[in-house]
Amino acid sequence: MPLIKTCKELKSRLDALDWRGQLALVPTMGALHRGHIALVEKALSENDNVVVSIFVNPTQFNNKEDLKKYPKSLIADVALLDDISKRLLIFAPSIKEVYGSDIASNSYDFEGLDKVMEGSFRAGHFNGVATVVEALFKMVGPNRAYFGEKDFQQLQIIKKLVAKKQLPIEIIGCPIVREANGLAMSSRNERLPKALRMEASFIYKTLQDAKDKFGTKSARFVVDWVKRQFEKHTHLELEYIQIADVDSLSPVPRKKKSGKYRAFVAVYAGGIRLIDNIALN
Ligand code: PAF
Repeated sequence: MPLIKTCKELKSRLDALDWRGQLALVPTMGALHRGHIALVEKALSENDNVVVSIFVNPTQFNNKEDLKKYPKSLIADVALLDDISKRLLIFAPSIKEVYGSDIASNSYDFEGLDKVMEGSFRAGHFNGVATVVEALFKMVGPNRAYFGEKDFQQLQIIKKLVAKKQLPIEIIGCPIVREANGLAMSSRNERLPKALRMEASFIYKTLQDAKDKFGTKSARFVVDWVKRQFEKHTHLELEYIQIADVDSLSPVPRKKKSGKYRAFVAVYAGGIRLIDNIALN
């Protein structure tokens, strides 16, 4: 499968398709794992052609070290995608192709969705994400785009971006794919030493217990309970736990019967930052 590196080449490849039909985009930063493959497979099952973009976006990294250490495995990624389908195009543009000479984010108003959780701990992160996603939408011109629910806040922000800019693109969220021990699939898991990768199963186990408790206890009780569990853990450090309304992402002062809630956490495991979330009702 040829690796497409420029918009010009992408356009001529798309123009040369016998039947373009419904076109889907699966944006990724590479280091592909089963979570990405699930997105690609869903996109293939619902569309005629699928573009998978592989681009490690510098503007969404608030921490330069994190950007430097982000796993890169383009050859392995291409080999993995090669085996899946002939209806796939891989688009791996350079930084220059995406940003020209000005590697900077646009500023967006996400009506508060970016002010909590990841947004409050990673300054500028969502402006960086939205800038590259908007650029990819322009370059690829998809009818649908697929995002994982592991980055649930990102998914809601992309939906808001599309609504505000009135882009004719359907945004599809896909369930979190987990390792056998429950750890949410992430390219960052590769950087975890084996023992810590096992220990990190505690994150999902705690979220599942939090969900059970949420049935009978208040949000405040569950948040405090989760904090206590992580305080007792010697290898994992909780950065935040938030129970939020799924649409506004604002913290839940008092739960309502009609409300839909999720619990969100960010956790450091040996210096590696992991995020996860669970639907509570
Ligand atoms: O979720 C990701 O991998 C990235 O944030 C995305 C959507 C590809 C934008 O760089």
